[in-house]
Amino acid sequence: MTSNAELHQRRQAAVPRGVTNSLAVYAERASNAEVWDVEGRRYIDFASGISVLNTGHVHPKVKAAIAKQLEQLMHACFQVTPYESYIALAEKLNALAPGDTPKKTIFLTTGAEAVENAVKIARYRTQRSAVIAFSAGFHGRTLACISLTGKVAPYKAGFGPMLPEVYHLPFPMPFHGITTEHSLQALAQLFKATVDPARVAAIILEPVLGEGGFFAAPADLLRKLRALCDQHGILLIADEIQSGFGRTGRMFAIEHAGVEPDLITIAKSVAGGVPLSAVIGKAEIMDAPAPGALGGTFAGSPLGCAAGLAVLEVMKEEQLVERAQRIGHFITSRLKGLQARFACIGEVRGPGAMVAIELVRNRRADSPDTELTRALVQAAGRRGLIILACGMYGNVIRFLTPLTIPDAHLKEGCNLFEESLDEVVRPGENKSAATG
Ligand SMILES: Cc1ncc(COP(=O)(O)O)c(C=O)c1O
Repeated sequence: MTSNAELHQRRQAAVPRGVTNSLAVYAERASNAEVWDVEGRRYIDFASGISVLNTGHVHPKVKAAIAKQLEQLMHACFQVTPYESYIALAEKLNALAPGDTPKKTIFLTTGAEAVENAVKIARYRTQRSAVIAFSAGFHGRTLACISLTGKVAPYKAGFGPMLPEVYHLPFPMPFHGITTEHSLQALAQLFKATVDPARVAAIILEPVLGEGGFFAAPADLLRKLRALCDQHGILLIADEIQSGFGRTGRMFAIEHAGVEPDLITIAKSVAGGVPLSAVIGKAEIMDAPAPGALGGTFAGSPLGCAAGLAVLEVMKEEQLVERAQRIGHFITSRLKGLQARFACIGEVRGPGAMVAIELVRNRRADSPDTELTRALVQAAGRRGLIILACGMYGNVIRFLTPLTIPDAHLKEGCNLFEESLDEVVRPGENKSAATG
């Protein structure tokens, strides 16, 4: 039998350190919210491969759609001989996207590629070059995307010059004393001191920060950004790659604010585990770039589109958008219960099933406990629970269960999390609320 240790040794010799692993656990198979490693150990999955498995691991309907597609056509390239599934999925996403303006959709392969394309489309449409993004935002690992990402190490550091004319605003984080007012004041100052709004092609933001620590953009910020974009002819791009596809209890997180963005990027859970991403946008804007300016060899592959159509059916049949709310309530109430016992839990936050806790020393927002967070991820792994860290200081634990997770596994995972927390919290330091 292959062991995790053996594979880890081979991995270290064959794969660069730049790509990291949260656990040295090598997955062999999985089903819905359970994963088994190469040694036959079972894990409850509260990570979903970073938010990719809203419909769970190997959903039977998604698997059947992929199997059927495999029999018929694996690749053709939409730019060469197009196929119906691409069009059918585009039609469905156009109908689902928020707002009444007619939409069009282009498919790509990764989230970063979707963001790159959204920026290209915005630049072409406006014939402007500047882009405004947010600190703590994450948009992918390509050069344009790391320019937009609002975190230096490890994403930008050492990679040389970034895309020019990218400006960052503070993202509201009430726990850290940053409000919508701060963001809007920074924007006003940016327009006054640094860049003419008439040069700005787009403002891009995640309606709920993913890697940045699960802070939701307040509805009033989104509405004000929408108004400012309209005033200055700037396009609003919602990066829903992590927050979309039902995760927050709406199909797209920006729907909570009732705002219609000009462009939306999606990826991750769109195709239940098959690489597929998309830019959905207002038809007139999407049609701006000249023929041949957009696309990609594997972009919108037949397998991805078949899986994507199956995912939408599953989401409807199993009412996963509604289920996200119920999962979110369950996890949030369990975590709030823990917060009363553990002073290291500074905040429990996040909409729907996009829930996170921020780990700090004695409830102090300015005292992130990165070390404890790392230890917690490992302790949970040892107990059979997969969780992920995130946040500017790596001190946030995010809960991204499949939306199809059975109640028993949800409960089991929460119990394992509580046991792990009990194990790693330094005795006497953080355990009782009274110390806070
Ligand atoms: C909000 C957001 N945008 C973009 C990306 C990049 O997606 P990918 O890793 O598929 O390129 C991610 C990935 O985590 C993300 O969370």
